[in-house]
Amino acid sequence: MSENLIKTLEAKRVVPLVQSENVDTALRISEALLEGGLDVLEVVLRTDVALDCLEAIANEFPHAHVGAGTVLSAEQSQDVIRRGANFIVSPGLDPASVKVANDAGIPILPGISTATELQQAWNMGLRTVKLFPASLVGGPKILKALSSVFRDVRFMPTGGVSPTNLHEYLAVPAVLACGGSWLTPEDAIAAGDFGAITQLAKDAIAIAQS
Ligand code: 3PG
Repeated sequence: MSENLIKTLEAKRVVPLVQSENVDTALRISEALLEGGLDVLEVVLRTDVALDCLEAIANEFPHAHVGAGTVLSAEQSQDVIRRGANFIVSPGLDPASVKVANDAGIPILPGISTATELQQAWNMGLRTVKLFPASLVGGPKILKALSSVFRDVRFMPTGGVSPTNLHEYLAVPAVLACGGSWLTPEDAIAAGDFGAITQLAKDAIAIAQS
């Protein structure tokens, strides 16, 4: 994975998900997160306009690190790269997507949830992966177990990470950063309360730095 992205993830330690049915709203969410100090954003392909959101965010905030999440296939990997993704995150391990990302020189963090999947990722040359769904497959304990064996791998746990357990995940030395949707709650977005998102971003940074 690119050194630049690793350094950024190491510095921020938190990767918020951006999901919206509307491009303008996605821009407002992103702006709120950036105002709160989080500049690594994962735009998830979970709505019909997700690719438009990704492109708009990447264009509007060129200094942010804008990646695409929930990328499920090689075709989607090509799409998100064309739309400006700086990095790719997927819930599972798809060799065809890894190849597309590698060929394009774009960092990819595929999801793994077992030692076997991690070993497959390792044999593809990957040293940075997502652990998903982190809280269901063992949380910080599985990260400690996996990292005692795969000693050169860094993890981005997501799935069930929240302000109450963020510090436990970040305390595991092999954890680079945590991802999650808790920073962009649907109710705050529906209410147009983007200030709440900025506050959640600031709170997460405070936890990460404590
Ligand atoms: C992801 O795509 O990484 C997960 O959906 C995040 O899980 P969370 O909603 O529990 O944070």
